[in-house]
Amino acid sequence: MLEIKDLKRHFTLSNGRRIRAVDGVSFQVQKNEILGIVGESGCGKSTLGRLILRLIEPDEGQVFFGGEEITSLNRAALRSRRRTMQMVFQNPFSSFNPKIRIGGALMEVCRYYGMSVPEAKEKINCLLSDVGLSSDMLNRWPRELSGGQLQRLAIARAVIAEPSMLIADEPLSALDVSVQAQLLNLLDDLRAARSMAMIFISHDMTVVEYFCDSIAVMYLGKIMELASSSELSHNALHPYTRSLKASAPSLDVFKDSAEEKASSVYGETPNLQVLIKGCPFAPRCSHALPQCAETLPRLIEFLRGHWVRCHRFSVC
Ligand SMILES: Nc1ncnc2c1ncn2[C@@H]1O[C@H](COP(=O)(O)OP(=O)(O)OP(=O)(O)O)[C@@H](O)[C@H]1O
Ligand SMILES: [Mg+2]
Repeated sequence: MLEIKDLKRHFTLSNGRRIRAVDGVSFQVQKNEILGIVGESGCGKSTLGRLILRLIEPDEGQVFFGGEEITSLNRAALRSRRRTMQMVFQNPFSSFNPKIRIGGALMEVCRYYGMSVPEAKEKINCLLSDVGLSSDMLNRWPRELSGGQLQRLAIARAVIAEPSMLIADEPLSALDVSVQAQLLNLLDDLRAARSMAMIFISHDMTVVEYFCDSIAVMYLGKIMELASSSELSHNALHPYTRSLKASAPSLDVFKDSAEEKASSVYGETPNLQVLIKGCPFAPRCSHALPQCAETLPRLIEFLRGHWVRCHRFSVC
């Protein structure tokens, strides 16, 4: 359904330095599939989501949706395709206009997609019940709602147009754990009912492993590992993926703390403005080889369906 080929977006800062926010990302998402994108803050997850929808333009690379290349569409053609691809943004508090009541905000979107007023009203009521909210929300202002309520409404607004692809950018951030679980169930129900494909962006490895069919692990604008969730949960290969998993909180009292410590990630995310010659993770990697500082490893299919970017696996 969705194919991304070598997508790149670099930003030039006022000091002239370049940030490689998304640096050659490729993957595919099938119908009904949930692909998780996981990585530390600043690794390029939101930029990638925005590039796929062309909310920002890529420097290089292509995005194909249903076989059609959307990176080369003009504005008018893109607008008509947007209906099929929607995004839930990271911050629910800034995704609604504070000066428009919730009912008005949802109606605006319905009208944008050409629905009549009665059609729109029916659609909105139906969606409110799908996301577990009552119709008295419609008269409320965004500031009168909690983060969880707003995020449900943001999801409802995103599925008004019945998209076949939903990009959910950290939809659970800033929500408490019980609301997070409800929202995950809601997203999964909507996905199943509408046969949607989904890209689920998160920095939480535990949630991504639980919720997604496959996972792409990103580091400094690049995919370091890509595999099914079950494969990644039992057989993570990349030292960065292993360190992300080791740093995830666990209730398992038998978890081997020695192993956990050995693979925990040390140091801070490097400065994106500095060009890294070799593997971007090498400065923090306890398994780094001499060539890791010199050349960037390729993303290779080390096991069937399991891709990894690491010299330790390139040499085998
Ligand atoms: N418009 C912009 N101009 C300059 N730099 C930008 C711009 N947008 C993003 N960046 C930079 O690109 C990098 C990736 O940003 P992005 O928002 O995609 O990260 P993220 O993985 O979504 O992080 P988080 O988990 O904190 O949401 C960051 O270093 C960010 O500062
Ligand atoms: Mg983000």
